[in-house]
Order: sequence, then structure tokens, then C-alpha cells
Amino acid sequence: MTIRDEMKKRRTFAIISHPDAGKTTITEKMLLFGNLIRSAGTVKGKKSGKFATSDWMEIEKQRGISVTSSVMNFPYKDYQVNILDTPGHEDFSEDTYRTLTAVDSVVMVIDATKGIEAQTLKLFKVCKMRGIPIFTFINKMDREGREPLELMEEIESTLNIETYPMTWPAGMGKRFLGVFDRHNEQFVQYTGNEEEMYIPYDELENHKELTEDATYQEAEGEMLLVDEAGDGFDLEKVMKGDQTPVFFGSALAPFGVETFFNTFIDFAPEPAPRRSTEGIVSPDQEEFSGFIFKIQANMNPQHRDRIAFVRICSGKFERGMNVTLSRTGKTFKLAQSQQFVASSRGTVEEGYAGDIIGIYDPNIYRIGDTIVTGKQNFEYDELPQFPPELFKKVTAKNVMKSKQFKKGLEQLVQEGAIQLFKRYRFEDYIIGAVGELQYEVFEYRMKNEYNVEVELTSMGERIPRWIPEEQVDESMFDERNMLAVDREGLPLVLFKNDFSLRWFKDKHEDIELIDLFEVN
Ligand code: G4P
Repeated sequence: MTIRDEMKKRRTFAIISHPDAGKTTITEKMLLFGNLIRSAGTVKGKKSGKFATSDWMEIEKQRGISVTSSVMNFPYKDYQVNILDTPGHEDFSEDTYRTLTAVDSVVMVIDATKGIEAQTLKLFKVCKMRGIPIFTFINKMDREGREPLELMEEIESTLNIETYPMTWPAGMGKRFLGVFDRHNEQFVQYTGNEEEMYIPYDELENHKELTEDATYQEAEGEMLLVDEAGDGFDLEKVMKGDQTPVFFGSALAPFGVETFFNTFIDFAPEPAPRRSTEGIVSPDQEEFSGFIFKIQANMNPQHRDRIAFVRICSGKFERGMNVTLSRTGKTFKLAQSQQFVASSRGTVEEGYAGDIIGIYDPNIYRIGDTIVTGKQNFEYDELPQFPPELFKKVTAKNVMKSKQFKKGLEQLVQEGAIQLFKRYRFEDYIIGAVGELQYEVFEYRMKNEYNVEVELTSMGERIPRWIPEEQVDESMFDERNMLAVDREGLPLVLFKNDFSLRWFKDKHEDIELIDLFEVN
């Protein structure tokens, strides 16, 4: 098979949702389709503390906390599927966001009883900003949820995206009969057992019991309405992230997941060309290239190794090949490479655009680094930095350890694990992070890798705004609206809240406040 054939088979995506919407359950069903696990096991019961049998959750269990965005890959039909798991923790970090730079599409899981929730919205915005195609699965139809039409409307108005229902549900909860599969022109009947029953539209007349059911008829009426008044399916819009195909089902039953997955996998995009400093790089070109979207230390507690996660963007990867790190121009051999299939980190011999590989990092890589082969020399577009929301002051508990403390801080900042600021004209260090989990990891790693115990003092949520150097007047600021500098020494203000920010703006109209993280 040619590089092009291999590349065209890749489907690389992430599943995003608010905690409890059913991401783990649906992922597990997909792994079953891929024969990656043999039985579904007990789905992680948060209350009972039970864990699923699937291996990748074992890792989370052992680690106790989900810091790894693991990668699951398996062949399915004619495709090679790569699912990138975003941490399923209550909390999430920049890792979650960055994972989205390495995928070609996203599955958004929504709980039918709740609709759009806070974290879905945050993650959705990142996808939208990057123009990633989004497919929606409305889950938990086996429970009494919100009306499907109302959910569609909420997606459209809250997320500002067109919807196209690929399937349409007949009833819900105890009255859930199944879904109309508009794409394949069949009714998929919910029988309560695991098999999905497919009835082609032209055979429905033989299923009077179903078609004469009032719930069925009501749904049919709604679907006609959607047909007439709704937007038509537009693959071009889907690819730009302007329309989302919507599917209904229950990950737990399971029902509708297979129908969803089969349609999704056909429509989901193959790896796309990517922008670089030397123009567009095609995924099927001969020469290999990729970028590092994540660095993970100590994945194996026995070895103090660091693994860099590489998203392959073009060409063919072969174990032992020589690559050049574009940032430094240095060339080295990629001898140790790993693929993350559930718990076993198997050695990977080759890979193509869309695949994710782990390479051993002897402390030379940084997040966002590009690696290339041959005479190429370019870098992929910089990875976005995400606005930190929580801020904490940090000090070493033991002042004698200040050297290790600074070294640890420096390296973790370089990895992109945290963002570092300093109080203006002071030596006080301030850390910014997206979520609380990042602090837990930070504290743990400082202790385990640099042997420094740190003291963190919360400053709460803050809103960072940069100001031009020449407009800095220290008398305007205090603890509430704190003046600080970023790593490059550029001044910024950490505003206490929205109210303080507005108050300041009104009072000092002449001062320019810059939001470096603005998402357009
Ligand atoms: P997450 O990864 O998005 O956080 O969600 P997860 O799959 O763990 O699912 C969260 C809960 O919702 C689980 O309950 C799971 O069994 C349930 N669930 C998932 N899909 C469906 C569905 O289609 N229908 C119904 N009725 N439930 C579903 P749990 O952890 O066992 O219990 P608890 O957290 O409610 O205590």
C-alpha cells in the first residue's frame, strides 16, 4: 500500500463531553467494535469505586489520577482508528485542549437530560476556533430527557452551529422505540437487547405494531418537520465545523452507537494538509514530519522516562529513522518509539499521517516542536496557549532548595505543564493553570522529580490582561488587581474579577488592556 492509501485510512479523533455525559461508556463500546477489549465489563462506577475492565482505565486506576491523554488505535472495517482520550477527570488542563490540536475531528457527547454543559462549551469553542469538524452524539435516550427539537435548538443557539439530525429518535425513556436512520433510510429498532434491529423504510409497512404506535407517529411527524424546515446535510459545512451531524442513542444500552460509528467513520475526515512556516504540507508527501503536542514524564514509575507524543502529519515513520528537530537543526535517531494501545505500550514499527506515536525524550523536546526528515526544514504552526484561569503563588517550603525549585519551575514551564508569572518588581512566583488538576500534578512532580516540596497559596480565579510597558503606573494596582510580568518580562494585570476589570476600564479609559488569549 502506498503512503497515500495508508493515510486515507486514518481516522483520528477525540471525544469531548462534560463529566458524566457518557464519554467513557461510549469509548468502551468503540473499543469493543475494534475488538480491542473483549467484554464491556462494569463501567466505572464512580460511587462504588468499581472500574471497567478495559485496560486503559486500569492505567488511570493505578495512577489514581487521570493525567494521561492516552491513545487507542485499532483497525475497523477499512479504517485505522485513532481515538485520543482527553482526561475524563472532573477537572481538566491544557493537555485536554492541546490534544485537540492533534485530531482531525471530534465527537461531542451530550447528555439528553442535561443538554449543553459548561465543559462541553469550553472544549467546543476550541474546536470551533480551529475549524475542527464536530459530530454530535446525544446520549442517554433510555432515560426521560429533554425534547429532541429543544436540544437541537439549544445546540444551534448556544454553540452557533447548524445541526443536521442524521438519526431521529422515536420516544425516550420507557417509551424509547429506536431511531430513524435518515442516512441509510431505515428504522433502527430498540429491542432492549444489545442487537440493533434494522428495518429498511420500504419494509416498515410489515411492522404495523411499530408504525401504529402513537410515539412512533409523533416522531415521524417531527422528522417531517425537520426535513422541511431544517438545514440540508452539507458535508462541506461539516468539514469546516459550521454544521454538526447529530445522532441519538444510549451508550449504556448500548443502542445507536453502532449506527453512529458506522456513519461517522465514513464521513469523518482523513488527515488534512497542515500549515507550516514553509507553506502547506501535504499528508501524503514522501518525507516524514510531525509535531509534539504533549510531553509526559514518568509514565512508567520504574523508569524515569519522558515520552513525547508526536502527531504524524506527513510521510511514513519507521522505527530507527533519523529525524531533525527543526528548532535546533540537530539530527538524531528515533530508536525507541511506542504506540499507546490501551495499557500495553507496544513498540511501533511504522506509522502514517494521523497516527500518534510516543518517542523517548532525553529532555530535548518542547511542546510544539516539529520533527522532519530529509532536506526539509520547517515548523508547524505554533500551538495555542490557553488562558489560565486559576492563579496561585508558589514558594519552596525549604529555602535551601531554591536552586532545584527554579530548575523544576523552568522545566515544567517549558513542557507547557504550567504558565509562570512574577509579581512586578518582586521575586514572587505566580503560577497560572487552566484547572485544579494541573496544580496537583505540579506539586507531585516537583516533589518526585526535583525533590522540592512547594507551598501553594491560592489567588483564586483571575483575568489576565497585558498592558503596554509605557503605561505601567504602579500606584494604580494592588493585591486585588495585581501587576505582574510574564516569562518574557511583559507587564500584565491579574484582575480579581469581571467587575474589577470593568471598573478599571471605566476609570482609566486611556490605558490599553490587551487580551492575548482572545478566541475569535
Ligand atoms: P464520562 O466518562 O463522560 O464521565 O461518563 P461515563 O461514561 O463514566 O458515564 C457516567 C454515568 O452515566 C455512568 O454511571 C454511566 O453508566 C452512565 N451512562 C452512560 N451512558 C448512559 C446511557 O446511555 N444511559 C444511561 N441511563 N446511563 C448512562 P455510573 O458511573 O455507573 O454511576 P453514577 O456516576 O451515576 O453514580
